Amino acid sequence: MKRFFMISAVLAATLLQACSGVLDINRVNISSPKGVLKVEFLLLDNGQPAYRFQRGDVTVIDTSTLGFTFKNAAPIALGLAITDTAIRAVNDPWEMPWGEQLHVDNRFNELRVSLVEQQAPNRKLDIVFRIYDDGMGFRYEFPSQGGLDTLIIMDEHTQFQLAGNHTCWWQPGDWDIYEHLYNTTPFSGIDALSKQNHPNLAQTYIPENAVNTPVTMKTAEGLYLSFHEADMGDYTDMTLKVFPSRFLMESELVGNATGVKAVVKVPFSTPWRTVMVTDRAGDLIESRLIENLNEPNKLGDVSWIKPTKYVGIWWEMHLDKASWDMASGKHGATTANTKRYIDFAAENSIGAVLVEGWNTGWDHWIGFDDREGVFDFVTPYADYDLPEVVRYGKSKGVEIIMHHETSAAPRTYEQQLDTAYALMHSLGVSMVKTGYVGKIIPKGEYHHGQWMHRHYQKVLETAAKYGVAVNAHEPFKATGERRTYPNAISREGLRGQEFNAWASDGGNPAEHLSVVAFTRMLAGPIDYTPGIFNIKLKPYKPNNQVNTTLAHQLALYVVVYSPIQMAADLPEHYQGQPAFQFVRDVGVNWEETRVLDGEPADFVTIARKERETGSWFLGSITDENAREQTIVLDFLDTDIPYTSTIYADGAKAHWDKNPTDITITKQVVRKGDTLTLMLAPGGGAAVSFIKK
Ligand code: NOJ
Ligand code: CA
Repeated sequence: MKRFFMISAVLAATLLQACSGVLDINRVNISSPKGVLKVEFLLLDNGQPAYRFQRGDVTVIDTSTLGFTFKNAAPIALGLAITDTAIRAVNDPWEMPWGEQLHVDNRFNELRVSLVEQQAPNRKLDIVFRIYDDGMGFRYEFPSQGGLDTLIIMDEHTQFQLAGNHTCWWQPGDWDIYEHLYNTTPFSGIDALSKQNHPNLAQTYIPENAVNTPVTMKTAEGLYLSFHEADMGDYTDMTLKVFPSRFLMESELVGNATGVKAVVKVPFSTPWRTVMVTDRAGDLIESRLIENLNEPNKLGDVSWIKPTKYVGIWWEMHLDKASWDMASGKHGATTANTKRYIDFAAENSIGAVLVEGWNTGWDHWIGFDDREGVFDFVTPYADYDLPEVVRYGKSKGVEIIMHHETSAAPRTYEQQLDTAYALMHSLGVSMVKTGYVGKIIPKGEYHHGQWMHRHYQKVLETAAKYGVAVNAHEPFKATGERRTYPNAISREGLRGQEFNAWASDGGNPAEHLSVVAFTRMLAGPIDYTPGIFNIKLKPYKPNNQVNTTLAHQLALYVVVYSPIQMAADLPEHYQGQPAFQFVRDVGVNWEETRVLDGEPADFVTIARKERETGSWFLGSITDENAREQTIVLDFLDTDIPYTSTIYADGAKAHWDKNPTDITITKQVVRKGDTLTLMLAPGGGAAVSFIKK
């Protein structure tokens, strides 16, 4: 099958070339390496480029058109002809310096279609498809050409014509934040504008009935689809505008107050527009399509980037036990408190301590419009001795994680970038958490627009220069750039654990991470900050709580992927807790990942093998419904006995009525044994398999 499509395209290209330079063809097919998926590129009668996408006999995307509108030029949409087609088969495996797995298969067939406008200005445009067995990506490439220097893009018109009214897991297309709950509705029921009201954050702008990506769907045939993008480059975030009754989506790029979406210099390539398609929900999580569609590592030796668990002077601020600023009289980031956290980390195999509120500026951030020139990224508060805490930490094998809250005033941050990162470098600090709370200054720019993307990219590249890895909060969404810049170590970009401390809408529901695993997590690592043991948040927040059981919190260390994982609760809440042993033991860097089972918004069970030790860890979480999971341990190595410790919901466990009821049992297991796990409502299970 594969061979047929490849040969037919090549023959068409060579046999039919006309002297005008235009080929007398209007269709080209290409299929994936194993022939599972097939894309057809076609020119409609009016010369408009379009494509169709199939899995076997099932239409995934029906005829969908492609094109652009510009400010400084006529649209590119109609009257195009094919001048050339080129096909190649690529097999280019690579290794992740850190990640969900060590070895990555990267096998695809590529089709390049070169187009030209048949009338003046006769602009040229290539459309390139890369087709894998679990999905495909395509992008627009504007080659160098006379008379085309800069394009002011008013919008990209990439359509995705769905073949039915699929079940969708979606969140509103927001130009400022990704911190929304996911909704489960048929496609025809997507109504993003009804989600405008966002009580908890200052910044949010939802201009259209559109969805953020990744957006995930299930078809009537049982196929799982997920739409996203890869390799952002110098561009802007794509949301997908929804036409509910037509089952149609079209790219709606994030712009700014001028109405412009992106300004690009030719030659130029857009990000890849990606569609994953699998017949098992778990295969979406196992897919490495997004990273494969990015360029290889540009940073060379990145052995200085160390996956780690960490604790932080953080949750105590979200609980209002302490504050970021000093004037309140309950400043969290003091030298003494930091040393307390360092001691706790050292005693519990935790490699790092995040310290928020260490620098001046916190008395003038949230709620202020004049935030420029306020935060200072090199000057500690008087009660915080930065060199001393770094020294003390290093003496105990614990790193300090630096914190840069910019209050969404990126120009102030950029002015200090070099000095701030040089300071970290001089101290031997190799990780920073950044933050962008508030509306972007200058007014009229949005977190997810091109202007901000350039800022995030500048921060990432400056950080790499100084040997620093970045964990961005209020970030630009991940599009797989961690392959090219492995110092993009993790990010937020979802409703994190912190919402449970203060959200006025009841916090994250029990199903939250069972949806996140099949949506946001397909983009890349998540700094969710799991591990809250004091689930009811007493005595600090009597009206808030975490809506899961304790065993569910443990399972998140495996289910939610990040190479840096926080033990987010206060150290005193871990004292004397036998369940904390799982947090001590669990790995953060994986050789292999197996998604054993799962269904978006219901449950998910994942097993991962730790790189250095070969130990396996399993996490299983459920929504508000109790479930039984029977797990065949066929992922374990042959003939080796493992000691498994099972942290399971107790018989009376319930996310609300009895969240901390947990049982811990040990047994020796081998490959092929089965394990039955009972998950309580809002519950979960965490299992370690350590070689005896
Ligand atoms: C929002 C971040 O998500 C949170 O983790 C941080 O503590 C605050 N901003 C302050 O920077
Ligand atoms: Ca559910």
